[in-house]
Amino acid sequence: MSVLFVSTWKDAGEPTVRAAYENYQSTGCLLTACEAGLAHVELDPRYQAIGFGGLPNSEGDQELDAGMMDGRTLEVGAVCAVRGVIPVISVARKVLEETPHNMLAGENARRFAERHGFEVRNLNSEHSLRAYEEWRANRRGAEVAHLVHDTVTIIGWESETRHLVAACSTSGMAWKVPGRVGDSPIAGAGYYADDDAGAAGATGVGEDIWRFMLSFRAVEFMRSGMSAEAACERAVGIMVDRSPATRDHCSVVFAVSRDGDWGAAASKDGFVAWTCRDGVIESRAIPGAR
Ligand code: GLY
Repeated sequence: MSVLFVSTWKDAGEPTVRAAYENYQSTGCLLTACEAGLAHVELDPRYQAIGFGGLPNSEGDQELDAGMMDGRTLEVGAVCAVRGVIPVISVARKVLEETPHNMLAGENARRFAERHGFEVRNLNSEHSLRAYEEWRANRRGAEVAHLVHDTVTIIGWESETRHLVAACSTSGMAWKVPGRVGDSPIAGAGYYADDDAGAAGATGVGEDIWRFMLSFRAVEFMRSGMSAEAACERAVGIMVDRSPATRDHCSVVFAVSRDGDWGAAASKDGFVAWTCRDGVIESRAIPGAR
């Protein structure tokens, strides 16, 4: 029996895969393990693109997006533009398990979370408040989230059942227009999982990732027989060829096939993926598209 977790970005990826693997050791449940990996990082204010201390919108509020997909059932749970509740990935899990819907939004997603026992709290940390005040003093406009180490996305795979889960959580683009929603809670854009084909997840500029449906494309390329690496390269290749401006920022898709091989591709240099296979943790830098 083998288990693999893959997650995103230089700083957050290692604690995410570690927490997911540790949880899997006790629960044996991929959904719970992926949720635990993301929740661990959401609750830590050192990671500025997710959960507590994430960089806020242009009015100084964190609006969080999260989503997850179970590759066995194709069930999705997601929330978008939610304020004041963490771990928001756990609210997404409640949507998956406790409602017949895929996504809840904004104020009503927060009310749903409260009904399920989540406490409403201020999500600004000392650092996020200071960063917001500096931004307000200079007003440089929206900054793409990758500059502050972006979304955390995770894929989990287990060999015995060839089961896959994909999940992600983010505070989205720093200083965004209030109400803006990126790729992260959108199944097919920020994440996708189908045990019959593979799973994929994305991170980077949500507008680009969503327009090109990177996660769904990568899964469909794996369904047609490509390796995880080739599927990701093809999905990113379509994006950068059709829209060369997408090379200006680092947008990434990474994938795990139903056989447990993994790969990634990026529009630009700068992305680091972390893996944990059976407890062995490694990182790999992913070069940008040539
Ligand atoms: N990829 C995160 C976002 O653009 O919201």
